[in-house]
Amino acid sequence: MMSESGKIVTGCLAPHPPHLVYASNPEQNEPKSSGAGAWKTLLDGYAKLRESIKDKEYDVIIVHTPHWKTNIGHHFLGVEHFEGLSVDPIFPNLFRFHFDLNVDVELAEAICAEAKQEGLVTNMMRNPEFRVDYGTITSSYLVRPEFDLPIVAISSARTYFDYSDEAGEREMLALGAATKRAVEKTGRKALLLASCSLSHRHFTDEPSDPEDPSFEHIYNENQSKWDQHVMSLMQSGQAARLLEEMPDFISQANAEVRDGSLTWLLGAMEVPNLPAKIHAYGTVIGTGNAIVEWDLLATEVNA
Ligand SMILES: [Fe+2]
Repeated sequence: MMSESGKIVTGCLAPHPPHLVYASNPEQNEPKSSGAGAWKTLLDGYAKLRESIKDKEYDVIIVHTPHWKTNIGHHFLGVEHFEGLSVDPIFPNLFRFHFDLNVDVELAEAICAEAKQEGLVTNMMRNPEFRVDYGTITSSYLVRPEFDLPIVAISSARTYFDYSDEAGEREMLALGAATKRAVEKTGRKALLLASCSLSHRHFTDEPSDPEDPSFEHIYNENQSKWDQHVMSLMQSGQAARLLEEMPDFISQANAEVRDGSLTWLLGAMEVPNLPAKIHAYGTVIGTGNAIVEWDLLATEVNA
């Protein structure tokens, strides 16, 4: 029988190329798509993910984002409502998004407190004028375009970069455990999004139409092979082995998981041996992106 206490309902790897928002043409985004269709595989994958989770009950979305980088510790949005214009500094031609979203501040504070208990440096972000980063917005939009549920957004601390990948991994597992405890203690039903790509070597220029499908392909085959391997570990429920190999993946595939999002997610899910569902794999400016779902309720049904 299902418990009525708080729980993480589903965990997702939900990468944030702003190109996918651009291609979806939401009214909030100023640039409009050419419709050339370079990223159809990934857009279809997000459609499959939305379909897969549409009947699940959850009341908050928690996002760990690589594009809110904080030099001292792990930060959490701490104001109930944000609105404004978020611009991708690399692709202002694709992403100028008028955001309007609510935050579950009580849950954010609970995760912040639990993370502090784990020995992590933490901080609540209380500036109401803060410009929410495009990683948070893109992943949230692609998973649930309505923005009708509150979110919690967690920054990317610089531990991997200032100390070592191993130190970063330890912190993100602790942050994941803290997230899980806070969700349970506050009675929330949470959907978790790790907002990052896999391999991340990318082109440094773009065609006149950035949505030109003839331009889009993997940049580096070696790195793409790493992506295939990582996805095979996910699909076969080998999260523990994936964690063991994460530092090698980071260094050999220039992987965006170095910002900690995926390890945080695996930690919050207690490093599940549950086979994940891969909804899509595709490239954006040559980077490897997988849309992946761990259906934690399926483990309860089968328990
Ligand atoms: Fe990114």
